[in-house]
Amino acid sequence: MECKVIDRGRRCLRLATMRLPYMFLFLLLFSAGGLLLLLHLQYLTETIHEQAPGGKHRHRQQQPDQCPYCPDNNTRTPSSRDVQKLSRVDPVNVWNPRFPVAQDKGAVPQITKNYRKLLKSSALLQQLNSTSAGQAFNNYQRLTQIQQSRRELLRQVCAKYRSFTRTISRMQVSRIYVEDTHKLLYCEVPKAGCSNWKRVLMVLQGQASSTAELRHDQVHYENHLKRLDSFTYAQIIHRLKTYTKVLFLREPLERLVSAFRDKFESPNSYYHPVFGKPIITKYRANASRSALLTGEGVTFKEFIQYLLDVRRPVGMDIHWERVVQLCSPCLIDYNFIGKFETLEEEANFLLRQIGAPANLTFPSFKDRNPNAARTSSRITQEYFSRLSLSERQKTYDFFYMDYLMFNYSKPFSDLH
Ligand SMILES: *[C@@H]1O[C@H](CO)[C@@H](O)[C@H](O)[C@H]1NC(C)=O
Ligand SMILES: *[C@@H]1O[C@H](CO)[C@@H](O)[C@H](O)[C@H]1NC(C)=O
Ligand SMILES: *[C@@H]1O[C@H](CO)[C@@H](O)[C@H](O)[C@H]1NC(C)=O
Ligand SMILES: *[C@@H]1O[C@H](CO)[C@@H](O)[C@H](O)[C@H]1NC(C)=O
Repeated sequence: MECKVIDRGRRCLRLATMRLPYMFLFLLLFSAGGLLLLLHLQYLTETIHEQAPGGKHRHRQQQPDQCPYCPDNNTRTPSSRDVQKLSRVDPVNVWNPRFPVAQDKGAVPQITKNYRKLLKSSALLQQLNSTSAGQAFNNYQRLTQIQQSRRELLRQVCAKYRSFTRTISRMQVSRIYVEDTHKLLYCEVPKAGCSNWKRVLMVLQGQASSTAELRHDQVHYENHLKRLDSFTYAQIIHRLKTYTKVLFLREPLERLVSAFRDKFESPNSYYHPVFGKPIITKYRANASRSALLTGEGVTFKEFIQYLLDVRRPVGMDIHWERVVQLCSPCLIDYNFIGKFETLEEEANFLLRQIGAPANLTFPSFKDRNPNAARTSSRITQEYFSRLSLSERQKTYDFFYMDYLMFNYSKPFSDLH
């Protein structure tokens, strides 16, 4: 029995178990001890490296479909520079996952019939499972599988909302950070781990030797990171076609509450005057003079009224803008879709894939208001309990495409 396809490997192995000749072989080999075991695992992993799934799908061409929700159709009127159209981008999948074990190209051994037989024993697999290399392999398979299903779902949802234009504007790549050394494009989604991602990009780029030495202000105001829209037309296309494109996002309502707490519940010299004042002016009856002057003390309900208002007194902001608008996931064929809920594991997995320095791991700094609890689903529920059912439904509708494309489940059971 051949086990060529990596995803079917385990099933294939199970099917083959309990065959007596193999049991015999197993007993024979088991006595040879753990050394042999590890040796064979090494062969297995190297062969797997050669057959990594990304390689298989490398040439599958996927037509990019523009969704009606992408910024082109937004109410914002882009400047003439923004609308300078870039030609159609064929999203060739260049991301070729690598299994991070041995990669000595000169000595890739062949898997022989005997090794295969050896590996067709489930008892032996359990032994492999208990080694750290075996666990790393299981993890690799699991996380790769997650990426495949996320990308497949996104493809399906985007296909449903196709429209005729397939061009990318400069504005649509303006949230994407560029890391040329490791050929990485990271689309910034605020409140979904982006500060720590910026730290990592700065280290990857050689601006610092570790993420710990970067202060918050440095990360946000002097990061020397380039955005994709600052490049020429040809350079943008080249990067979109050949770099690993990454997106990390978060449960939409949790992200929204996190943004509200961050911008309105502690002193803020930008968000209070710029957003707070018009919000209080429009939505608070009998507002006090000082509230009208400072814009301080916006309530969550007022904030939601502003968000859902088709005639907002002040525009949108990236902290509460939808991911479909920020990152154009139907136009840009992201190779990696990570989630804040499993941020560190997935970010570290990605870092190993792109060949980041081994001592670089994803940090867990909490930048602003370090004393406030991280916004959890419990805290999110509490904020939303201050709203009416209709307001909750409309907020869900507002973020509906983010829910659909990234498989987040409906946040409250009484919504439809
Ligand atoms: C190995 O471990 C993974 C999870 O860690 C589990 O899903 C799998 O069934 C195990 N395989 C065997 C043969 O025990
Ligand atoms: C990681 O390794 C590099 C050299 O490869 C070194 O310059 C850097 O200081 C190390 N960082 C940490 C946090 O140990
Ligand atoms: C506003 O204040 C007036 C007088 O103080 C009061 O009659 C009215 O009910 C208040 N309106 C609201 C919505 O609180
Ligand atoms: C969506 O997530 C659920 C778990 O919440 C999972 O069971 C399901 O397979 C996922 N669907 C897709 C298409 O990935």
